[in-house]
Amino acid sequence: MNFKKYETPEKLRGHYYTDSQLASFLTRWVLETQPNSILEPGCGDGIFIESIAHLLKKPNKLKSIIGFEIEPNEAEKARKRYTALKGVKANIYTKDFLGWSLLNFFNKPLFDGVLGNPPFIRYQYLEISSKNEQKKFLTYLI
Ligand SMILES: C[S@@+](CC[C@H](N)C(=O)[O-])C[C@H]1O[C@@H](n2cnc3c(N)ncnc32)[C@H](O)[C@@H]1O
Repeated sequence: MNFKKYETPEKLRGHYYTDSQLASFLTRWVLETQPNSILEPGCGDGIFIESIAHLLKKPNKLKSIIGFEIEPNEAEKARKRYTALKGVKANIYTKDFLGWSLLNFFNKPLFDGVLGNPPFIRYQYLEISSKNEQKKFLTYLI
């Protein structure tokens, strides 16, 4: 175990990116279901967004992609990858997905496909605000 103050910013936000072959495999799997909307809850530099752009065939039903990334520079990279997608509305938000989901997730089904590789962050490294949000989120699910 390490102390939080000695960890890198990447480690603290669970920054481990998915290999492009694996992202393609998972993306094909989700696209087979003909989703109308896809969520990427922690999109990093946008490997899954790029995979969708490469693998989406016409005709398709996809209308929107919503991505979240807490780190502004990475979110900007994901936005650049998304510009390759034509005819599909995509919004990449630079914000905390958990905070957003607590306000929006339980009202109605917002997405019918989810693609991503979530941040695995040691519980003791989370800010107290994130711990509280996680607690609320899990309380909804139980
Ligand atoms: C394991 S990486 C995966 C990135 C990308 N999905 C991929 O597979 O390559 C997780 C990403 O989630 C971001 N992240 C961490 N906490 C977040 C939060 N609360 N809301 C949104 N993004 C978050 C990290 O900055 C990191 O880029």
